[in-house]
Amino acid sequence: MRVVLLLLVLFCARVQATDPHSFSNFTLVSHPELKLDLTADFDKQQLQGFVELKLDWHYPDARQLVLDSRDLTIENVVGQSAEGRWHRLSHSFGDKSRYHGQALLIEFPAQFPVVRIYYHTSPQASGLQWLTKEQSSEKQQPFMYSQSQSIHARSWIPLQDTPAVRLNYQARIRTPKQLLAVMGADNSANTEKDGDYFFRMPQAIPAYLIALAIGDLEFKAMSERTGVYAEKVWLDKAVAEFSDTEQMMQVATALYGDYPWGRYDLLILPASFPFGGMENPRLSFITPTVIAGDKSLVSLIAHELAHSWSGNLVTNGSWHELWLNEGFTNYVENRIMEQVFGPERALLERQLSVQDLENDLLQLDAKDTLLITDYTGRDPDEAFTQVPYIKGMLFLQFLEQRFGRAVFDPFLKNYFQTFAFQSMDTEKFLRYMRKTLLNDPDIVSMGEVLEWLYQPGLAGTFVAPESDAFKQVDLQLELWQKTGNLAELQTNSWSIHHWLHFIGQLAATVDIAQLQQLDQGFGLSQSKNAEVATAWFKVALAKNYSKAIPALEQFLLKVGRRKFVVPLYLQLSQNPEYLEWAKNLYQKARPGYHPLTQSAVDKVLKLN
Ligand code: BES
Ligand code: ZN
Repeated sequence: MRVVLLLLVLFCARVQATDPHSFSNFTLVSHPELKLDLTADFDKQQLQGFVELKLDWHYPDARQLVLDSRDLTIENVVGQSAEGRWHRLSHSFGDKSRYHGQALLIEFPAQFPVVRIYYHTSPQASGLQWLTKEQSSEKQQPFMYSQSQSIHARSWIPLQDTPAVRLNYQARIRTPKQLLAVMGADNSANTEKDGDYFFRMPQAIPAYLIALAIGDLEFKAMSERTGVYAEKVWLDKAVAEFSDTEQMMQVATALYGDYPWGRYDLLILPASFPFGGMENPRLSFITPTVIAGDKSLVSLIAHELAHSWSGNLVTNGSWHELWLNEGFTNYVENRIMEQVFGPERALLERQLSVQDLENDLLQLDAKDTLLITDYTGRDPDEAFTQVPYIKGMLFLQFLEQRFGRAVFDPFLKNYFQTFAFQSMDTEKFLRYMRKTLLNDPDIVSMGEVLEWLYQPGLAGTFVAPESDAFKQVDLQLELWQKTGNLAELQTNSWSIHHWLHFIGQLAATVDIAQLQQLDQGFGLSQSKNAEVATAWFKVALAKNYSKAIPALEQFLLKVGRRKFVVPLYLQLSQNPEYLEWAKNLYQKARPGYHPLTQSAVDKVLKLN
């Protein structure tokens, strides 16, 4: 009797372990293996073909498979019985949900080991961007790519779209002959262009890491296991900019254990890519806006590489705990930067991050400043604030400082090894810390840890990073403002970091004449560095400095990275002088933006 009761309790616990951003019934049945066979049709802007799922049934009475889907057209569903015969299966859709798409319910007469779904995607698929040849970087051939995080894999593959389920996959992708397809998988055999490509991902990954891109791509090696895929215009520039990738891998490996994925390549996307980077396994997707010519923005590569341990190997089990991916990754990123580029640069990058976090904290609801945020009923992409990234990083830095690296480094390495290829939640991490780290309350008390983990805002034990370099910049800024003499600004030795700190102080302190003086002296409106340009445009808009507007227009027409574009449109929308201008500009720019950027800007300009 007691055993039955115990089993019942265990069963209920499993059944209830669901993800608020997935319809799938993964506790009853899951798909450890997936096979894709898709053709890319650039005229129709759709993928069509089938996905075949190998099924693991976890409960004897289960006869239904519930998958996630969004804007998919299902043509036919068939299942293969244990004896190998194929049967047609009935399917239906659940209600449409604004952020989550639709459940796809498939009924089985018995627990078949395999199901195959024939389908095609829609041109509006939220996880795909289809670019005409004019919208590619070379302007000769069309381009398409996927961006599945957080819950957009379901818009191009019907599957269990939750980070709590892992799978291996194989894929066959057919494309126009002159184009190359690449995936976040084994790409080594695929550099010959013939329009028919095969991939294999032998390591188990969550759905949000399935990734595909197709374009007029070339490959160039950087080391034996690293290289760049890009359209020709970017190839040599990217190889030069990211030439430290191999060293970054060695640094991360020395700290956190073997690199578990084989190769590490970079794919340079067109400038409309909505993110800075995306850590697709074996093949990070990268915005060209970090190719600044001086390696000043390569912390992004350190970041995406760091996800090979934090995120791809040990994965947040739900989007409410994104900090387990991004906070750990920012921490690891900064350690890599410190070793490859020196402690000074790493410190400046930390300090700039804290400034970004402080700006976000001013604007967010207190409940969204917790490390664990509740996005039930909301779009989990909204969790993409500085909180999981920077507050998460600062928490780990707090632990590092208290325990010392001699203790903290092996702790983190063991964490990655202990939970490799598993999903993680904050409670589980806390239990692991209790067991292996938190054994002396004089070093760190439980109360201190709980404050970081479960209280809003910055914890009382936060120690702000401070650099002399930025103090010098502040002093020069003061002197220049006092004297009006631009020569007070000794900028020759400034790095991008100094500039970003400097520009970050301006909105509060300068007037329009001073902005003009700076612009004439340093050509800031024309900056080729996307971070500097964005920071400058923000100040310009805050002060109605209209001379920056033509450059801003060019920038917004070219770049679709959400982090840059959305705050700029937001500021424009709040300024009566520019609102109409911004709406007109957006009409021109919108077709070139990714669906995710489009919906974010639509919201900001109140167009939906
Ligand atoms: N995994 C993220 C991108 C992401 C997060 C996509 C949440 C969808 C939802 C990626 O690793 C990332 O963090 N990119 C940052 C760059 C980084 C250096 C902070 C970005 O795109 O700005
Ligand atoms: Zn990240």
